[in-house]
Amino acid sequence: MGVLVVVGSQWGDEGKGKIVDLLAKDADMVVRYQGGSNAGHTVVKGGQKYVFKLIPSGVLYRGTACVIGNGVVIDPADLIAEMDGLKAKGVRADRHLYISQAAHVIMPYHKAIEKASETHKGGRRIGTTGRGIGPAYVDKMARIGIRMGDLLDPPYFRQQLEDNVAETNALLKTLYGAPGFEAEKIFQEYLRYAERLKDMIVDTGLLVHHAVAKGKMVVLEGAQGTHLDVDHGTYPYVTSSSAAAGGACTGTGLGPTCVDAVLGIAKAYTTRVGSGPFPTELTDNEGALLQRRGNEFGAVTGRERRCGWYDAVLVRYAVRVNGLTSLCITKLDVLDGLGEIGLCTGYKFKGKKLAEIPSDVAMLGVCEPVYETWPGWTKSTTAVKAYRDLPREARRYLARLEELAKCPIDIISTGAKREETVVLRNPLLRAKRKR
Ligand code: GDP
Ligand code: IMO
Ligand code: MG
Repeated sequence: MGVLVVVGSQWGDEGKGKIVDLLAKDADMVVRYQGGSNAGHTVVKGGQKYVFKLIPSGVLYRGTACVIGNGVVIDPADLIAEMDGLKAKGVRADRHLYISQAAHVIMPYHKAIEKASETHKGGRRIGTTGRGIGPAYVDKMARIGIRMGDLLDPPYFRQQLEDNVAETNALLKTLYGAPGFEAEKIFQEYLRYAERLKDMIVDTGLLVHHAVAKGKMVVLEGAQGTHLDVDHGTYPYVTSSSAAAGGACTGTGLGPTCVDAVLGIAKAYTTRVGSGPFPTELTDNEGALLQRRGNEFGAVTGRERRCGWYDAVLVRYAVRVNGLTSLCITKLDVLDGLGEIGLCTGYKFKGKKLAEIPSDVAMLGVCEPVYETWPGWTKSTTAVKAYRDLPREARRYLARLEELAKCPIDIISTGAKREETVVLRNPLLRAKRKR
């Protein structure tokens, strides 16, 4: 057996989808543990590009069970659209997809509340993806949420929905001056979704437990990233779920002792979408260059991703709060041809050096990055598969990232395609050997 958590180590979009797909070759099961269709996980296989929002990134392997865990919030319309999109490309997700009965459902009013609230915040808005994620988790915590299993119990579903719509309409009208919703219309629409999904809705906690008990190989796929985690991220500029590795247990129903290894994914530079502090952000030509070369536009919203140098303080923190056992550095090829590469090793706050990320977001917002400058390389790293074929300067840069993180690098990604990867050690197979 082997249970590996794959987690973003920065602000999301690190290339988790590509790496989960790669590792899924040896996995019996891939489980998404939090987030929803705010995620966009890209996999490029055989010239075809797939962007997974809710469906785990192991779905391209027919023999791999794909599970949407209880920690995920599901917009059924998005899920069905994703399944249909895959079917059109010849992938039958429904044949090996399992949906937690305890995963919460995103309703149209969640999106409306989010939109109104973001508008209301003005300059203090979070810059959310508009998928209703935050309000759906609010209902979950307020214990009024509707779960996937509830859709299969129409009388209960109708009652809960009517109560929620009454409350939501009052909020939308009085606070935001926005139009309300009709419970009956939503009820009928969601019953149709339930009819389509009902055979896939199961007790996934038990399913995952049985897989682990039988010694299967399991990948727990995180969405977003450590610094977007609701507890450990740059609050309030975060998402509303536990994106860090701790969420892999609460979001699947596995106990912490089941987890064998935790792989952190980090880009060779840094990006962020939406608002919030970003010490190494480059607002000049260099940032624009990284954005263009890295094609840094949101996989879900198409928004421009803010770009900057690699921040070792962020990744060191990710090593700590996720208990990372190894790292995967992605998009090394994007740095090809740069004369010099900036590498942030610490911050300066009011003239004082900081080695750790401050928990106060306002303080982080005024921290100055302390840089080392590393020589770039002229030889292309694109599609390189063997470590020895990387230019010496690239190897030195990677060695420095490893040293600063105090965590070994297992994988280096040199392109978007599955095969454009240097695998020094396979973290899933290593997780297996541990037991
Ligand atoms: P995720 O949300 O963490 O799965 O990442 P996204 O899919 O949102 O963003 C990563 C983007 O970079 C996608 O367009 C990937 O196809 C692409 N990508 C992943 N790894 C590499 C790499 O090593 N090099 C390059 N050039 N692109 C990559
Ligand atoms: P993947 O899984 C990057 C960001 C949004 C916003 C904040 C809150 O593809 O890495 P939300 O809609 O979640 O309430 O928005 O979080 N965000 C992401 N940024 N990658 C993601 O997912 C993200 N999911 C949410 O831009 O700043
Ligand atoms: Mg993404």
